Parts: sequence; structure tokens; C-alpha cells
Amino acid sequence: GFSWKLADHPKLPKGKLVAMIVLDGWGEASPDKYNCIHVAETPTMDSLKNGAPEKWRLVRAHGTAVGLPTEDDMGNSEVGHNALGAGRIFAQGAKLVDLALASGKIFEDEGFNYIKESFANNTLHLIGLMSDGGVHSRLDQLQLLLRGASERGAKKIRVHVLTDGRDVLDGSSIGFAESLEAELSDLRSKGIDAQVASGGGRMYVTMDRYENDWEVVKRGWDAQAVKKLREAPGANDQYLPPFVIADESGKPVGPIVDGDAVVTFNFRADRMTMLAQALEYEKFDKFDRVRVPKIRYAGMLQYDGELKLPNHYLVSPPLIERTSGEYLVHNGVRTFACSETVKFGHVTFFWNGNRSGYFNSELEEYVEIPSDSGITFNEQPKMKALEIGEKTRDAILSGKFDQVRVNIPNGDMVGHTGDVEATVVACKAADEAVKMILDAVEQVGGIYVVTADHGNAEDMVKRNKKGEPILKDGKVQILTSHTLQPVPIAIGGPGLTAGARFRKDVPSGGLANVAATVMNLHGFVAPDDYETTLIEVVD
Ligand code: 3PG
Ligand code: CO
Repeated sequence: GFSWKLADHPKLPKGKLVAMIVLDGWGEASPDKYNCIHVAETPTMDSLKNGAPEKWRLVRAHGTAVGLPTEDDMGNSEVGHNALGAGRIFAQGAKLVDLALASGKIFEDEGFNYIKESFANNTLHLIGLMSDGGVHSRLDQLQLLLRGASERGAKKIRVHVLTDGRDVLDGSSIGFAESLEAELSDLRSKGIDAQVASGGGRMYVTMDRYENDWEVVKRGWDAQAVKKLREAPGANDQYLPPFVIADESGKPVGPIVDGDAVVTFNFRADRMTMLAQALEYEKFDKFDRVRVPKIRYAGMLQYDGELKLPNHYLVSPPLIERTSGEYLVHNGVRTFACSETVKFGHVTFFWNGNRSGYFNSELEEYVEIPSDSGITFNEQPKMKALEIGEKTRDAILSGKFDQVRVNIPNGDMVGHTGDVEATVVACKAADEAVKMILDAVEQVGGIYVVTADHGNAEDMVKRNKKGEPILKDGKVQILTSHTLQPVPIAIGGPGLTAGARFRKDVPSGGLANVAATVMNLHGFVAPDDYETTLIEVVD
């Protein structure tokens, strides 16, 4: 039968401290002035790269290597940390929704049948990110959902849109709004009362995560009650203020009322669970909801399997079980995980297969350092890197842990602002945090693994196929999003067995190969169904 017990590694010892460091948004790209990692002073990461060639390599962090539909899909933190922690590649939300829409199964399952009850007499509301970024949602999926629902009886549909500019170019929301409007007008020509009802910029309205700032969610909620249509000033897509569409008499065209159906059409969880709580929970104390309509609510996916949030959903999320974290804890590995709020769930929830909480609270400690809230991260590009470094250093020196696992967010969070200068400062701060952790690893005779979840800061400009910046009105277009680039991985430290090195026979290795590698460094052989290890030990 099944057993959690891992076999002993024939050549690698147990009991060494392993520091697993994930730099968020830190890809590898050619030197260039828009490569902030290259421009920044990053002596620690440089020394890993320029050290022993058998201890540094690149791994794939995008597309099918992390369970996304195509090789054109850039990596992201959810799929990256899922792969890092689970050691296997799972078809991710983006792909599962594609398949369910293509087969039509989405319209036959429980979730859709549940919301369908409202179609005859009430409105169907669709809330989510209007984007083709493919990180949280996709516009083509929304279009198929709109069509499918209207063909199955939805007569009145209201769409509540969050503009992106973070996974896609700033300003692209106008084009997406036009495509959506074309779709809605097509539905109207078929006699369906379909229109956009409210919205706002994703980072200012609704899509907060890990309870960093409930005000963000509240703004989206309030957009439902406020009876005014606000003209959005020249703000950027991510931070567009909330708006409500009203009719000639000033009445909002699409408030959510008793009996309505609501679908949040994002497939990714982290930035939807807060809204899902506000929509679903009877008891809720994060802000005053004022009016709590009795609705039929379904998520595109279930966003939290443990909390069963939401209860109803259109597509089943990937079932990610037997993650490396769970195995290691069962094999006595005492684990410390740390990041600041905005990435905390990445090294815990995502790492553990979209599961919240500890596997064994006696052996694990997860530390969250509060992020700054109410600012954009280019204002404070150092973020909490120093604090993460310090806490992790202390955890290493305490001798209480066999693994410390951290996410250092700077390259990603500042990279998303599109502020090149600030991103350079961010990269330097991330490098300093790595140094602090590596110094502690050195002191205790431990081992380090340094990698990243996907690219971002290494390329801040949109390029053509030849790799040259694309000019628009003589200016480059700043890339706020992630990239398709591979990411570095380095191993080392005084505790690393002599002769341990990267194998040459896994050239297309990706993030999912890291879990088996880390298990080896803890002295174990990974389970058979895990993607193969990246390392070997030569005598
Ligand atoms: C976000 O949610 O901030 C971006 O859409 C994706 O960034 P992440 O995958 O690095 O979290
Ligand atoms: Co990101």
C-alpha cells in the first residue's frame, strides 16, 4: 500500500540544513539596459552564476513545463510554486477551463446547473479580470462562457470588469473592452440584455490577495452600491478607480440583487478568495457589506479546497496531492517557510498544492512579514527583503529547522509596476537578502538551492521576434508582465556532498524537477512518479 516513507538516498546524507530560496520574477536574459537584474548590482547572484559550471543551470518556468496550455504562456507564481512544491506537472486552471469549455462539460456539471436556476427570472453577473494574460483569467474563456450561458437560457447578463495592465501591457484594457463590447452587442442582437455594469483597476478594486488590504475588495463591493458613474482619469489599468455604469435616469444598470447568479470567472485563486468570502460567507467582518443579496454564487474554480470556497464552481481545480512538503514533514524534516504578505501564500499555499495551513504544526513554522499596503511597490522597492533575510537567517541559526523556504518578492512586485529604475533597486535588495541567507547557510554547514518561479525583472520592454524593443510613437513599450524566460537554479554550500552536481542529461528540466532535487539534498530519494532529479553524485 501507500506509504509516506521515503527511501534513503544512496549517496547523500540526512540532517543537513537546506535553504530553498525562490526569487520571485527573476529570469535569465541577455544583458541589456532593460534587463534590471543585469543593470543592478547583484554580486551574490553573479557569483553563483560565475562559480562552478556544474552547480548553476537554467530551468524552464513557462508553458507546458508548468502545466499551462501552450508555450506562449508566460510563467506565473501560482503554477511556478505549484510545480516547485509538487514535483510533478499538473494541468493548471487555465488549461482545465479550456478543456471544459471545448468539450462543453462546463455547462453540464453541478456548478453551472446551480447558477442556471437563476436564469429564468434573474440576472447572471460575471465578475473577473478582463485580460488575455492567461494568469488569472482569459477573455476568450469569458466570451465562451457568455455564449454558452446565453444559449442555455441566460436572458439578462451583466459583466463587472477588472482592468489588467499587469499581466498585459498598460493601456490594453481599451482593446479588451472593445472585444468584450463586440461580443455583448452580438448577444444583444440576439435579444439578450447583456452589458458591462461596473468595474475598476485590478490593483485598486477587488483583486487583493492574502488579506493585504481589504479596502481593495471593499471598493469593488461598494461599486455595486454607489450611484455614480465615475470618469476614470489618466490612471493606469492596474489602478483605475471603481466605476458604475448608470442608465439615463442615473440608476446603475447592473446591481446584484436577491435571486441573481454570480460567477467569478478568474481561474486563479489567490486574488479571488477575498471576494469569494465577501460573496459567500454569512458571517463576514472584514468590512460592512451594507446589503448582502441572496445570490447563487459559483467560482470558475473552487479557490480553496480546504475551506471549500466557494461551495459551487464550474470547473474542478487540479488535484495536487502528495507534495514534497507533505512528504518531507512525514519523514521528519522540520520546515520553516517565510515571505512577506504579498507572496506569503506562494511559499505555503501554492507550494503545498493549494492547501492552507500546516501538515504538522509541531514540525513546521510559517512566518508572514506584513507587507506595506496602500502603496505601489516602486515607492518602496526594497520591500521587506531585509526582514525576510533576517528572519530566515535567525531560523537557520536557531538549529530548529532542517529546511528553510523563502520567497523574495522584489523582482516581481516592483517589475509589475513597470518602473525600470525602481526595479533595479529591487533586484539589488533581493540579492542582499540572498546574501544574508547564504551567509547563515555557510555558518551552519548547510546547503542552498537558489532559484526563481518565473521571469519578470530581467526584461522590462516589449520586443519583436528578433528581440529588439518595439517602438510605438518613437518610444519603447514597458513590459509590466512576466516573461517566457528560463530561470536560474544554483546549488552549493559547505554541506553539499563533494561530487554532487547537476546532471547533463536533463537539458529541458523545469521547475517540477526541483522537488526531487531538494528531497535528495535532504538525504531521500523522491517518489517514482515525481519528475526526475536534476542532480547526481560522482565519486
Ligand atoms: C499578480 O497576481 O500579481 C500577477 O497577475 C501575477 O504575478 P505572480 O504570478 O508573480 O503572483
Ligand atoms: Co508576478
